[in-house]
Amino acid sequence: MNLDFFKIVPSIPFILSGIWVTLLFVLVSAVLGFIIGTILSLFKISNVKGLRWFADAYTSIFRGTPLILQLMIIYFATPQLIGYNIPAFLAGILAFGLNSGAYISEIIRAGIQAVDKGQREAAEALAIPYKPMMKDIILPQALKNILPALLNEFITLTKESAIVSTIGFLDIMRRAQVVSANTYTAFEPLLFAGLIYYVLVMSLTVLGRYVERRLRRSE
Ligand code: ARG
Repeated sequence: MNLDFFKIVPSIPFILSGIWVTLLFVLVSAVLGFIIGTILSLFKISNVKGLRWFADAYTSIFRGTPLILQLMIIYFATPQLIGYNIPAFLAGILAFGLNSGAYISEIIRAGIQAVDKGQREAAEALAIPYKPMMKDIILPQALKNILPALLNEFITLTKESAIVSTIGFLDIMRRAQVVSANTYTAFEPLLFAGLIYYVLVMSLTVLGRYVERRLRRSE
């Protein structure tokens, strides 16, 4: 047993600054995923067969293949295809946003379908057009119910984000690997990175509980 945390002390600020990198990455990916997911969920409940088909095919492809494969295709294969050397950050948020969109579309679809159908019938009886009905009546109620599931997705994204280290993006994970190589240690930097991820996820959990409680109070 020869753990020596003093060896990585000078590198701690380097690893810590990865927190902002990871958080920014996850936030941008989540927003992209949410936008894609909302659109896809509306496709899934639409009356147009083609839209439903597209959304289902999309979900099945992005849920049916590994995220790391999608990331690799976007980062390593697009240059071959279109001759554009895509930056790691862009490749990462594209892969994560597109992938998360598939999962979020299912969450939102289930949320919309769980809203009492009387809400829709009442809106239709009042001749409220589709758009304001969705935006002001159905979606707000759906969002409240699916908040825990969305938070779960956010947590998944936070942890899965570690795989962008494989394309050299300097997130928490990648920084831990760099420190590991520079200091000839393995356990210490990885353990430290693990601690950071754990604290991040726990903070998200606490934040989510708080938001949920606030929303329930407004009922
Ligand atoms: N490890 C899984 C994969 O490779 C995670 C997919 C991402 N999950 C998610 N809920 N966005 O496919």
